[in-house]
Amino acid sequence: MKTLRRWSGVIKRRVLGLCEIKAGILLSRPVGAAAAEACPESDAVPEIKSTREYREGLPWSEPEFLRRTSAGNVLYELFVEGQPVCYGWVAEAGARVGVLHDLHLVVPERGFYVWDCATSPAFRGKGYFLALLTGINHGAYPSATLALVAVDTGNGASRRVLARAGFRPMFSYVSARLAKRPLFNLALRDGRLVAAQREFDRLEHLA
Ligand SMILES: CC(C)(COP(=O)(O)OP(=O)(O)OC[C@H]1O[C@@H](n2cnc3c(N)ncnc32)[C@H](O)[C@@H]1OP(=O)(O)O)[C@@H](O)C(=O)NCCC(=O)NCCS
Repeated sequence: MKTLRRWSGVIKRRVLGLCEIKAGILLSRPVGAAAAEACPESDAVPEIKSTREYREGLPWSEPEFLRRTSAGNVLYELFVEGQPVCYGWVAEAGARVGVLHDLHLVVPERGFYVWDCATSPAFRGKGYFLALLTGINHGAYPSATLALVAVDTGNGASRRVLARAGFRPMFSYVSARLAKRPLFNLALRDGRLVAAQREFDRLEHLA
């Protein structure tokens, strides 16, 4: 009996270990002259630049940096006194972006999609991520009308900053895989459960 219980415990752990369930929220905000902007709280004057050439010390290998840039992504960095402290990648119009597991979207013609952002741990809580988002939303894409971003449901720090930067939820989604194979992908929009990929596909024609 003990052996049976032990084995059923092992099998349960293995099966659960093969199962991955993740949830996120797709947010958007209008961009352009009419959009109200939040102000960063930091005293230091940050400088935001797009980094088009690879340099030593970036958090990615050169092949990975080139893979991203050649797929329609641009790296934005925020510098304080010449030191890079915060970054975010932006997928430009027409880029195809993997969001979560097999879920993906194509960036709309007059839009951009912000992804893979981080602030160096020693510089967190000083408003730099908000400043980076504000800088990108303001001036980086003058003809864009829509900014998109996806965030893990459990990432409270990021969700707070995104809300302060004017991003509002469009829909929530959940994706489950078993042994790397899709089990289900669902989105919750306006209180209705729908196929998640269909919601991501609709974004391409929004802006
Ligand atoms: C999310 C992240 C980019 C925020 O960067 P940041 O420069 O600290 O952001 P801001 O200073 O503009 O805002 C910080 C907010 O996060 C909270 N926070 C999270 N971690 C913090 C820390 N270690 N120190 C201080 N504040 C922290 C603050 O409370 C603040 O919210 P509040 O102003 O409502 O109190 C940063 O925490 C990070 O790099 N996280 C790991 C990677 C990640 O989650 N990326 C986001 C993917 S979309």
